[in-house]
Amino acid sequence: MKISDFKLERYFAQHEFTAKYLLSSSDSDGYEMNYILENASVDELVMWQNLKLGYTESEGNPALRESILQYYQLNTIENVVVATPGELNFISMNVLLDPTDHAITISPCYQSLSEVVKSIDCPLSFWKPKEDGWVFDTEDLEKLIQNNTKLIILNFPHNPTGSYLTRSQLDKIVDIARKHDLYIFSDEMYHKLIIDDLEELPPISDIYEKGISLWGTSKTFGLAGLRTGWLVSQDKSFLQKVVSFKDYLSICNSAPSEILTIMALNHLDKFLEPNLEKIKKNILVFQEFADQQELISSFVPPRAGSTSFVELAIEGTSLEFSNQLVEQAGIMTVPAEMFEYEGKYIRVGFGRANFPETLEVFADYLKDYK
Ligand SMILES: Cc1ncc(COP(=O)(O)O)c(C=O)c1O
Repeated sequence: MKISDFKLERYFAQHEFTAKYLLSSSDSDGYEMNYILENASVDELVMWQNLKLGYTESEGNPALRESILQYYQLNTIENVVVATPGELNFISMNVLLDPTDHAITISPCYQSLSEVVKSIDCPLSFWKPKEDGWVFDTEDLEKLIQNNTKLIILNFPHNPTGSYLTRSQLDKIVDIARKHDLYIFSDEMYHKLIIDDLEELPPISDIYEKGISLWGTSKTFGLAGLRTGWLVSQDKSFLQKVVSFKDYLSICNSAPSEILTIMALNHLDKFLEPNLEKIKKNILVFQEFADQQELISSFVPPRAGSTSFVELAIEGTSLEFSNQLVEQAGIMTVPAEMFEYEGKYIRVGFGRANFPETLEVFADYLKDYK
């Protein structure tokens, strides 16, 4: 099997640790280790101190899988498998799809949600939103279904647009999938990052027998360094296949990360609330900035998640704009090309404390921009 470069991750690799300012990150600032330990209970600290650094169970530490279950309606740990988020996506597509199948994914998308499907030589269609408000229409989705369609890939809250579905839209998608007997892989990495006064969607695994939910610590929790994600599904035989595939990749998880993830899950609000507050504040700051800058031709504030896809009134391409911005002002932005999306967009990420300062530098740069 051959797979193309993950353009967005390669672009980050080039700039993330050298650019002075990051304006496009989808994660919030990482919490310090001490913060996790300060918020842990006595029992959790005992678990941490007594931790033995041998191999761990392939499916994930049973205590961790119990902690995960508190956020789902399913109630046995056989419904949960833990690995890194990217690994779980990679394995799921490989377990589910063959070249004779057809899949549908949303667009623009985090590249692995399309590229892994392509690497299997499985035909792929893209479900696109209306650009004026990034609204996805379920009727458009149904039109993409073919005789051999096997899988729908969702990602709400959506990276990069910040779009979200209503509960009735999600129910409609489940009805469509049930009618055509399709799996739904729902990338819920930004779960619970709800900005507008909106109803939080349930994980797909709570409401659909062929639904697979992916969540992890990177975005909602501000703990990307733990590299922990998990799949939850009612389909236990699918999850067993995921575990067998994992034997060829990481085999098992990092033992310390598993315990730290238990602490994070059991004290979710301590991690989620400060992130949400920061994201909401930064959106307001950006709205003011966008109102004053002619270069920003359209800004749709995110309804959920931590990012938005901002349209620019520029002559060249978004990639040229981003390259020039990072070279001349040290500000890293991710252009539309990294999402294989046409149009003059850059992603803006709201989860960083130095966001207002970064915007000041950006505003200075734009004064002389031609
Ligand atoms: C939609 C989506 N899914 C999955 C991931 C992967 O998460 P991680 O970086 O923790 O592997 C990301 C990361 O940006 C993402 O945006």
